[in-house]
Amino acid sequence: MADNLCMAKPVRRIGVLTGGGDCPGLNAVIRAVTMGALACDLEVLGIEDGFFGLVENRVRPLGIPEVGGILNVGGTILGSNNKFNPKSAVIGRDEQGKPIKRDMTELCVNTLRVHGIDAMVVIGGDGTLTIANDFAQAGIPCIGVPKTIDNDLVGTDITFGFATAVATATDAIDKVRTTAASHHRAMVVEVMGRNAGWIALHAGVAGAAHAILIPEIPFSLDALAGFLQSRVAKGRRHSIICVAEGAKPMGGSQIVSRVDDTSPDPIRLGGVGKYVADEVEKRTGIESRSVILGHVQRGGTPVPADRVLSTQFGHHAMHLLLEGKWNRMVAMQNGKLTDIDISEPAGKQRLVKRDDALIRAARGVGTGFGDQVGEQCA
Ligand code: F6P
Repeated sequence: MADNLCMAKPVRRIGVLTGGGDCPGLNAVIRAVTMGALACDLEVLGIEDGFFGLVENRVRPLGIPEVGGILNVGGTILGSNNKFNPKSAVIGRDEQGKPIKRDMTELCVNTLRVHGIDAMVVIGGDGTLTIANDFAQAGIPCIGVPKTIDNDLVGTDITFGFATAVATATDAIDKVRTTAASHHRAMVVEVMGRNAGWIALHAGVAGAAHAILIPEIPFSLDALAGFLQSRVAKGRRHSIICVAEGAKPMGGSQIVSRVDDTSPDPIRLGGVGKYVADEVEKRTGIESRSVILGHVQRGGTPVPADRVLSTQFGHHAMHLLLEGKWNRMVAMQNGKLTDIDISEPAGKQRLVKRDDALIRAARGVGTGFGDQVGEQCA
């Protein structure tokens, strides 16, 4: 940290937490924030398991020994939670089995006060940053750092974790190609992403999938089957289809794998890969298999691009805190590090546009999106 910034010191003790699903690069942000703070003689307290740690008073000091050697480690040393929202915390169930909810914001704010925490760095996705905005409104200065493998946060062109998830999914596509080619099959690879097709689009292009199905472009099974049959007709004896978990057929709906009523975002998607594989086999006679990559995409060591981005984000978060520029979310826009109001991403999703440059490039190399009946492979 620049010395003049350190001298300003509008805060003395900061809290750091990670909320939502784990994501490669969380530890790299924790490290950058902690090291930046320590360089200015600020104290750093780590809050465990997201905002839930404030309810149970699980708060611990972070120093060099805690953050040394964690840059390349996946997950989060602080633990995380993608179910707890202090404003509507589930405290039990009524006679009908419905969750009973209570507002625990005051209890959480009290824990912060007891520990003398002046400000928080909140690392999370839209749900976590929405909660951070509630704390900002309650008078706790917050800086948000955008994370999600889904890359669907409004206000930033990129979130950390996305590059690693894409690398993992691409590697999986490369691997299933072996079986697809050896057995002349269609292999369907289902990737994560919630309602956004970013992971499927990028991994599909990087892995040279023949078809990519994303939520933003509902697919027609007839169009997809025709496209795959045109491949067979041209002597292409295998096909790879990369499907986003949120993809849905035209006029149909997404496939839900579970509903968790204790979670602020209760829907968990999953299963569309098997549906597509079964339908393709039924309609074309091409033997088909599916694989769901699931949480493998959230795990493992962050790729270098995510380590770099996380470090930049963490450093910028500390700058904002020291400048007294509070209640902001760090963002990357047009390749430049910047920041936006922390309330901006709340309740929104950044989806793939149908005319995204990468979609045009993919179509240009003959990739099908299952939306054009009569489409032939290149
Ligand atoms: O938002 C990250 C994400 O991994 C999504 O891609 C996926 O839909 C969801 O979280 C899975 O959540 P959970 O870990 O609760 O199953």
